[in-house]
Amino acid sequence: MARTGEQEDGDRMRVDQLDPRDDAAFDEWFAVVEAADALARPGEPGSLRQEEQQLSLDALRPGSDSCHVLLAAHEGDRCLGAARLELPQRDNLHTCEVELVVHPDARRRGVARALCGQVERVAREHGRSAVAAYADEPPGSEGCSAGRLAALALGWEVVQVEVRRDIDLPLDPALVASVSQQCAPYAGDYEIRTWIDRCPDDLVDDRAELSRSMSTDVPLDRLDWREEVWDAARVRRGEELVKAMDRTVVNAGAVHVPTGRMVAYTQLAVPRARPERAYQWDTIVLSAHRGRRLATLAKLSALRELAALSPGTRFVSTWNAKENVAMIRVNDALGARLNGGIATVQKVLG
Ligand SMILES: CC(C)(COP(=O)(O)OP(=O)(O)OC[C@H]1O[C@@H](n2cnc3c(N)ncnc32)[C@H](O)[C@@H]1OP(=O)(O)O)[C@@H](O)C(=O)NCCC(=O)NCCS
Repeated sequence: MARTGEQEDGDRMRVDQLDPRDDAAFDEWFAVVEAADALARPGEPGSLRQEEQQLSLDALRPGSDSCHVLLAAHEGDRCLGAARLELPQRDNLHTCEVELVVHPDARRRGVARALCGQVERVAREHGRSAVAAYADEPPGSEGCSAGRLAALALGWEVVQVEVRRDIDLPLDPALVASVSQQCAPYAGDYEIRTWIDRCPDDLVDDRAELSRSMSTDVPLDRLDWREEVWDAARVRRGEELVKAMDRTVVNAGAVHVPTGRMVAYTQLAVPRARPERAYQWDTIVLSAHRGRRLATLAKLSALRELAALSPGTRFVSTWNAKENVAMIRVNDALGARLNGGIATVQKVLG
């Protein structure tokens, strides 16, 4: 492990940078994440070690789309806090995303303060002028989670609030039939195509354009996130990463039949090692094609595929900005139930 150079809290606490290829160091780092997950949402499948390590190993590859820096706060031999900076390399060169957790036994003792100091130093060294992080707010802690309050105490500000919804699987067949029937008349010019993991070659350029749109069209409130740069090669790199993380991704796209272009798509990702919970990733419809129920139809198809492929999946978690009325309507129509939220916090580095 490399010292970051700064001793925190006298000689008692130090913050080190670690190499994701160092399995023993990564074990300690991940144990903090796992303990924090278990406290925040007991009984829910939390982070997976293999996924978390693979994410940072991938970032070491030449030409990777992001660079990662892992930090661990130690007191003696014990790892008390863990942080990861994800520094985008193709776009958004002004900012970075940060995960930061402190072991439940070591809270309110300045560990987050020490880690944050180093996070900000590393971000500056990489030329970043802002840092952003996400505080999970389980039910009952919305607006007053430890993550939000600590971030505010450390000079960050809340720039967006997202609400989490879970959709239980399998969907009720009567609900599927009635929603499909209501949507069909709007979408006569469109065909829904589904695929698992690898986007068909004839759709990959459209898929890249949809990812670019995702970066500009979703509500961001005051989060300083700018247009992303996408091409087919970046889509393929993302697919390789997900494969290495051992996740299955179920995709559904809406193709506009008169032009042959894919104008909407949605993605559900499920960890093969722990399929109980799936994650809703992107859902986007190009602006010229909105209002035709394409998001609902694509999501219905993806959810049906997922239920067939992964019968052990019991629910899908999705996060929507509280102002994203259209997306929330789609999820509510599919029977989503509220389950806390996320506060996005940001600090502009002076
Ligand atoms: C949020 C978290 C990282 C704080 O770690 P910590 O080591 O307990 O924080 P520190 O002891 O360094 O405290 C830093 C500041 O935050 C304040 N703070 C920390 N936890 C707080 C809480 N639960 N309520 C109110 N203030 C809190 C502290 O008082 C301190 O401010 P001060 O120096 O002005 O008094 C920890 O609770 C955690 O891991 N939570 C789950 C993951 C998470 O939410 N991460 C942050 C994402 S933004």
